[in-house]
Amino acid sequence: MTDKDKYAVFGNPIKHSKSPAIHAAFAAQCSQAMQYRAVRVDEGGFAEAAQRFFEGGGSGLNVTLPFKQDACQFADRLSERAERAQAVNTLKFGPGGEIEGDNTDGIGLVRDMVVNLGWVVQGLRILIVGAGGAVRGVLEPLLRERPDQLLIVNRTAAKAEELAAEFADLGTVEGGGYDLIGERQFDLVINASSAGLSGEMPDLPSTLLTERSCCYDMVYGPEPTAFMRWAAHHAAWAVSDGLGMLVEQAAQSFYLWRGQRPETRPVIHQIREAMEAA
Ligand code: ATR
Repeated sequence: MTDKDKYAVFGNPIKHSKSPAIHAAFAAQCSQAMQYRAVRVDEGGFAEAAQRFFEGGGSGLNVTLPFKQDACQFADRLSERAERAQAVNTLKFGPGGEIEGDNTDGIGLVRDMVVNLGWVVQGLRILIVGAGGAVRGVLEPLLRERPDQLLIVNRTAAKAEELAAEFADLGTVEGGGYDLIGERQFDLVINASSAGLSGEMPDLPSTLLTERSCCYDMVYGPEPTAFMRWAAHHAAWAVSDGLGMLVEQAAQSFYLWRGQRPETRPVIHQIREAMEAA
């Protein structure tokens, strides 16, 4: 292993990050000798820490909360989707020494839904609950799948309105408060609000699901989330947490860094088993 094989994830908090285990599994599967560490970075200290990491021979970084915007500023060059999202979760030391920024969150979500779960996105009516950084990162790849319509609802309506306006050139996107749901029904409901982290559930009308609706929570954990329980209770056709998205976004980062696509299914399985056993 050389210095060029040094990778890390920067975040705060970072203690419970599953990224080191995921990348270790990918590296073993693809016979790649690389080192990947989780690093807790102080708030306000991202640029300095990243500079030091790359000057010290680091090859690539994953970036998680709360540094995705800082990483966007830090990159010398952005992919189109990172530029759109104004958020970066993957940095790479490029061939000419420039730092390339990308955002693999949206691809991760789409691949998990379409490839792993077998859900179709094209032509669907999609509801996204929440309008924070997580949504910003996934809108472009989601809209590229050409849903019929996409409604973003958020506790703070103005944030959803702004996001919708920013991405309106990519499809039919609306944004606003929960009241916009009214009696409308959706084929796919994605929860991106962090309300569930405290066990709360956004106040959604039970009428919004049909018998064919799929519900996806970007959050994951050993137990079903409040949103997943709500979806099951209202007889959603299929329900998933966001562990697959986490592994898929990591796989896309791994591909950008190492040029190899790991198989994700066994890794999703491995991480879930470890999570449930903990
Ligand atoms: P992330 O990067 O995970 O998206 P974020 O940018 O802090 O994190 O966004 C959190 C999202 O969860 C926001 O949409 C937030 O709504 P507001 O914009 O109104 O703050 C939403 N959220 C957090 N707690 C919530 C709660 N108790 N009820 C409803 N929405 C909540």
